[in-house]
Amino acid sequence: MRKKYAAGNWKMNTTFDEGKKLLSEVVNMVKDELTDANVKVVVGVPMPYLSTFGQLIDTDKVALAAQNCHPEASGAFTGETSVSMLKSVGVKYVIIGHSERREMFNEDDAFVAAKVDAILAEGLTPIFCCGETLAQREAGIHFDFVRSQFTNGLFHLSADELKKVVIAYEPIWAIGTGVTASSEQAQEMHKMLRDHLASKYGQDVADEISILYGGSVKPNNAKELFGMPDVDGGLVGGASLDSRGFTDIAKSF
Ligand code: PGA
Repeated sequence: MRKKYAAGNWKMNTTFDEGKKLLSEVVNMVKDELTDANVKVVVGVPMPYLSTFGQLIDTDKVALAAQNCHPEASGAFTGETSVSMLKSVGVKYVIIGHSERREMFNEDDAFVAAKVDAILAEGLTPIFCCGETLAQREAGIHFDFVRSQFTNGLFHLSADELKKVVIAYEPIWAIGTGVTASSEQAQEMHKMLRDHLASKYGQDVADEISILYGGSVKPNNAKELFGMPDVDGGLVGGASLDSRGFTDIAKSF
């Protein structure tokens, strides 16, 4: 069975003390309440907190994620963080290709592809984000666009490498807007992406890949979204800043 995920992306939010409280609450609630062993809770916290916060996690049900990395192993890259640095402080997952980074920091497909390689080389798990703008959807090119993000970002991988990647489809028009893709829209895109993976890697490989939906996932819509056959969980921004709501999302499978 494919692994299911509730992955939180805190983005640039919380002070150290606020974050510590939030993570402690999530860890405790998940330990007490999450009974489905196939569900993994991932928490993407701000970079400066990673080292300390890793020590707050005392359960396999929760894993630490970074929100970014640099593809190079080391060197003169002022302000950047390598994957080996992240690994050395207990990070297990790295969110890459997020639309905010693609749009605001001009990260292109090739740069994201290089990050995928760097993350896999260190034995960590990339959470590879993709998704179209509203204009692309309205122009009817959303499938082609997201397919091209996949092809350019992932199709250089071997089947064994691809199996180690988690995917997050996040339509940009649904991120932070309160407008969620309908469960049918999410399912339609996820199915198309799984078919695209199957066209290169075969159906068996494609069936093993977890594809998360992101974009205004909330406690009150998670169950319906996660109930779709090709939606394997969520990448959750705003709602991951509330411990009760986020834990409820993780219990929505
Ligand atoms: P949102 O963010 O849940 O606040 O829409 C999702 C994301 O950007 O990962």
